[in-house]
Amino acid sequence: MFKIPPLAITLIKAIIHLASLSTLLYFYILIDSNRLGADPVKEMIHFLGKTGLNYLLITLAITPLAKRFKQPLLIRLRRVLGLYSFVWICLHLTAFIWLELNWQVGLLIEEIIKRPYLTLGMAAWSILLLLSITSINAIRKRMKKAWFTLHRWVYVALVLGIVHYYWSVKSGLIEPSIYIGLSLLLLNERRQYFKSLYHSLFKKP
Ligand code: HEM
Repeated sequence: MFKIPPLAITLIKAIIHLASLSTLLYFYILIDSNRLGADPVKEMIHFLGKTGLNYLLITLAITPLAKRFKQPLLIRLRRVLGLYSFVWICLHLTAFIWLELNWQVGLLIEEIIKRPYLTLGMAAWSILLLLSITSINAIRKRMKKAWFTLHRWVYVALVLGIVHYYWSVKSGLIEPSIYIGLSLLLLNERRQYFKSLYHSLFKKP
């Protein structure tokens, strides 16, 4: 059976970098030419949040695709995609703190406590922060098996991120519902893992 060669993986990584930087440039051009509509700040926060979520979903699609099509080298794309997801979410958070709160950290803490959808978003961001730091090779090697356990927390980040999105939306529930459907599909691909986790947590002799 055809196997994707290592050189193709390097090429795909280069395409991921190019696509990400082009999206950032496109976003900058939209801002610079005042083409973000009547409420540009909201539009910026939405664009960055959704892009981060898209990258997170693509990252989580890699393992099922690699297994289904027997292409183990695809796994090498997870790190770069996951890190880009974190970068977009950091920009999403920065846009909120900068443009909505004018860098008032006290107000940010107040908002996070007051609005549950922000509490969930912040919790998801904290998990992605931890996963990004521990994706550094030296740390990963030191963590040994614990690394795999920790990185399963990406499922929690996905669920928190999706609920945060659904909760933040004031009208038009079709799009967030599609995102929920896609997330459930990706989590369903891990049902074996969830079953064994359930057994180890609740069915111990
Ligand atoms: C993994 C973490 C996160 C994900 C995946 C995420 C994703 C999203 C998405 C997809 C939207 C809706 C975009 C739309 O309606 O088109 C959104 C809205 C929003 N998010 Fe996040 N977000 C995350 C974390 C955060 C954090 C940490 C904050 C700030 C503390 C935040 C603040 C907001 C705000 C203010 C909105 C707009 C709500 C409104 O329209 O009034 N998000 N987020």
